Amino acid sequence: MELSKRVQSIKPSATLSINARAKELKASGVEIINFGVGEPDFPTPHHVKEAAIKAIKDNFTRYTPVGGIPELKNAIIEQFKRDYGESYEPGEIIVSCGGKHCIYNLAQAILNDDDEVIIPAPYWVSYPDIIRLAGGRSVIVHTKEEDGFKLRPEKLEEAITPRTRLLILNSPSNPTGSVYSRKELEDLADVIIKHRIYVLTDDIYNKIIFEGTSWVSILHANPEVKEFTFVLNGVSKTYSMTGWRIGYMAGPDPIISACTKIQSQSTSNPNSIAQMAAVAALNGPQDDVERMVNAFAKRREYFLRRLEELKHVTFYPPQGAFYIFPNFSAYYGKKYNGQVILNSLDLTSYLMEEAKIALVPGSAFGDDRCLRFSYATSMKTIEKGIDKLEAALSMLL
Ligand SMILES: Cc1ncc(COP(=O)(O)O)c(C=O)c1O
Repeated sequence: MELSKRVQSIKPSATLSINARAKELKASGVEIINFGVGEPDFPTPHHVKEAAIKAIKDNFTRYTPVGGIPELKNAIIEQFKRDYGESYEPGEIIVSCGGKHCIYNLAQAILNDDDEVIIPAPYWVSYPDIIRLAGGRSVIVHTKEEDGFKLRPEKLEEAITPRTRLLILNSPSNPTGSVYSRKELEDLADVIIKHRIYVLTDDIYNKIIFEGTSWVSILHANPEVKEFTFVLNGVSKTYSMTGWRIGYMAGPDPIISACTKIQSQSTSNPNSIAQMAAVAALNGPQDDVERMVNAFAKRREYFLRRLEELKHVTFYPPQGAFYIFPNFSAYYGKKYNGQVILNSLDLTSYLMEEAKIALVPGSAFGDDRCLRFSYATSMKTIEKGIDKLEAALSMLL
């Protein structure tokens, strides 16, 4: 039987596949250092788990309103007031089965065939495929390492056509950890307002920010952009709740209502118990978040120090999230066992085989010069992994 053209046009998530392969090798007894993981390595906070257990005991186990329970929408509205200084109505909020699902709903709600979505590269792996599934076309705009991998306003302006519907911004970024400054966002907001295109600001990592950097959103930079803006967040990364599948988005009511209609005919409401857990996460104590960010900061520092010592590797120091995206292209063209390493995929395969390190090739993020490391793993693992990386690279010199 032939599969639909739609499904044939997309690929499975590269990060999830690498993770699955690393787990497979581990299960067969091979010790793998996994730098491929896109989720915090901490448990979900205790009080959040307790709230979920209470929800089960209270029989909070039935269908809920499609777009989320009022308690959770209120908690999100309060969070957005604190984080963005903006007020949203419940009709301007949707809760979905993870942030990824919010983006999926948005793409389905606003894109017609061949409508264009501008995505700065390096980008999170799922954006182009979500756009393709909705019939849209991704317009990839490459950024430069020396610009901190950030989109410049003149590049945005050049990429806009009459078919442009949406720009996706992600700060802090997966995979680069880059964070946009207020000025950079002000300049982008001017272009967005001038051309009246939508912008999705994917702020899923906005609580994971390191010393010396302050996180600002495009709404802070220019509140007039609000009528064009969709704000995305969720509990996955901030509260180490990736498996619970709760994400949320705020934006103009008619489009959020359209997203809710789409959700009503696909997944219905997100899990009722996870919604209660998310209320506890947003309204409860935040010290677990602080502890986790402090741990990431220490690992980041160590990682950067070790990377500086690696020969022929350059990198832009991440300011947020838990990723780093160094440039290894100086190793392309080197030979190992008669095989030439031509690109990021070849280098990740070599490192998996030779050093037993799992990494995601930069090509999955639209930049073949780099490899993505996640430091959401213990310090001991990081130390061991970089030792092995160093040894494997020196064999290529
Ligand atoms: C940039 C970015 N946005 C959105 C998501 C979606 O996260 P979730 O669907 O778990 O909320 C991820 C997860 O990896 C991400 O890295």
